Amino acid sequence: MNDARPPLVELAGASRAYVAGSPEQVVALRAVDLAIPSGEFVSVEGPSGCGKTTLLNLVGLLDSPTSGEVRWGGRPVGSLSDRERARLRLRGVGFIFQRFYLLPTLTALENVELPMRPLGVPRAERTRRASELLGEVGLAGRERAFPHQLSGGEEQRVAVARALANRPGILLADEPTGELDSGNTRAILDLLERVRHDRSATLVLVTHNPEVAARARRHLTMRDGSIVRDARETGT
Ligand SMILES: Nc1ncnc2c1ncn2[C@@H]1O[C@H](COP(=O)(O)OP(=O)(O)O)[C@@H](O)[C@H]1O
Ligand SMILES: [Mg+2]
Repeated sequence: MNDARPPLVELAGASRAYVAGSPEQVVALRAVDLAIPSGEFVSVEGPSGCGKTTLLNLVGLLDSPTSGEVRWGGRPVGSLSDRERARLRLRGVGFIFQRFYLLPTLTALENVELPMRPLGVPRAERTRRASELLGEVGLAGRERAFPHQLSGGEEQRVAVARALANRPGILLADEPTGELDSGNTRAILDLLERVRHDRSATLVLVTHNPEVAARARRHLTMRDGSIVRDARETGT
């Protein structure tokens, strides 16, 4: 039987060109076709500048293709208003970045609460959910800590909790372990795998570390704006 459901996210001939202040444009992504079904764990590897972040930004609705299409649940995202797209991103996507991007003036708890605010989640519910998430990432008791009082590994765990705040269907991680030592790298990967499993979420993980990529079940390799390899591991 064929699964008739459309993939969670799909790129169809998606290109992204940048006009960088000179007549020469940089083509960061070249007519990429990619379907990500719900529940997959995908790694994206490739040298610096090959278009990994650009790809992730298109998948996560942070950016739009200059040609081609992005579809969410079969629906072209280009047909949404900016407001609809922003809401879809807030609800549907959790981003985890290499440099964490926690707000330094907010506590761990407040950082995790932040993405719930624009969706109008009541304060008490925000606090409850944020504490629960901090517990889930192993930071119970550190709710009131500010980012500068946390280690790099702890900061990244806060960032994972923040990415989960609105219970997104897909987690997009852009070199999330790039600034961490090997112990913390392992801890964050274990955490991401557990979260993915417990919430049956989709995970796309950009990395140039082959050991990190090895955790995924589907491996994309990029060169020069194109996906040059797309390998799925078989078995259970
Ligand atoms: N905002 C931008 N303006 C101009 N060029 C950009 C911009 N963002 C990325 N690029 C260029 O697009 C290409 C792909 O970048 P990126 O997606 O960040 O690669 P990666 O994440 O694999 O290192 C690079 O040549 C980069 O210099
Ligand atoms: Mg990048």
